[in-house]
Amino acid sequence: MKKKQRLFLSAAVATSLLLAAGCSSSSSGGSGGSGGKKGEAAVGATIYKFDDNFMSYVRRAMETEAKGKVNLMLNDSQNDQAKQTEQVDTLIAKGAKSLAVNLVDPKAAPTIIDKAKAKNLPVIFFNKEPDETAMKSYDKAYYVGTTSSESGVIQGGLIAKAWEANKAKWDKNGDGKIQYVLLKGEPGHPDAEARTKYAVDTVKQKGIDVEQLAMDTAMWDATKATEKMDAWISKYNDKIELVIANNDGMALGAISALEKAGYFKGDKFMPVVGVDAIPEALEMIEKGKMIGTVLNDAKNQGKATVDLAANAAKGKDVLDGTDWKLDDKKAVRVPYVEITKDNIQVGKDAYK
Ligand code: GAL
Ligand code: CA
Repeated sequence: MKKKQRLFLSAAVATSLLLAAGCSSSSSGGSGGSGGKKGEAAVGATIYKFDDNFMSYVRRAMETEAKGKVNLMLNDSQNDQAKQTEQVDTLIAKGAKSLAVNLVDPKAAPTIIDKAKAKNLPVIFFNKEPDETAMKSYDKAYYVGTTSSESGVIQGGLIAKAWEANKAKWDKNGDGKIQYVLLKGEPGHPDAEARTKYAVDTVKQKGIDVEQLAMDTAMWDATKATEKMDAWISKYNDKIELVIANNDGMALGAISALEKAGYFKGDKFMPVVGVDAIPEALEMIEKGKMIGTVLNDAKNQGKATVDLAANAAKGKDVLDGTDWKLDDKKAVRVPYVEITKDNIQVGKDAYK
């Protein structure tokens, strides 16, 4: 008897462990992976990695939006495309009626589309925009994100304005040019490529000369950005007049390196600018350690993703009952907003 009980117990533990592993990833409503709460259509979702500052806010918004509406089976792809592709197979097998996919590799869209197509499932890509050919290859493929170039244009505009107002101090070598270093996001990521290009182009278009001292990827990551910045500080030290970061995570990483090197004390200052407007960056703006950022609206992107995916899972038009609009690329594009000390509340409200 006792033995039987023990066996039963260990079987129960094993089952729950298995279940936990199956939905390594959380799922709103706690029903993750089990095929759905009764009466709720299931959306199979993946995020490229949970351990990404900005995506953690998108994820939170998705979970909030899904509550009581849809069974969101949400997976952490841990920055591994092969893993994500497998997760998509599993989600389909578990009865997902639509897919919401934040690709690891933007180039993997055709693989995911093939799987969705085979089961006639709508797929909503979000945050990493697939290229046009992939989007056109399936009428049930949609995208939720932003217009990548817009963030670069806004960031460049912000830099130009701040430079004009402060160049007497910021142009340390007095040559009229901005000597900058740039921390790039993931190479090949549409946001990273567009932000890098348009931020610098916009500054130039405003009539300001620039000189790039260094540029390298820190993969959106704060720790990697600190390492790069440490190296650049020891190589160029006060030749650097501006730090441009493709996102706030990397801007925060650069600030740590700068603080170690004695910046932001007394007269020693470095203008740093990012993108996202995550709460940690807004704090830095308030402390005067960042000149500004560009709001990347996590809340609305998360909400739009779930709105479209939930409608699709229920067999409705993806825009049914929403205010979202699709452009000619079947994309919902949430606008970016310039954020400085003057309108910091806009950023705070977006991440509440
Ligand atoms: C960008 C965001 C980055 C990073 C990236 C992940 O839109 O600005 O911080 O989260 O998406 O794909
Ligand atoms: Ca200069």
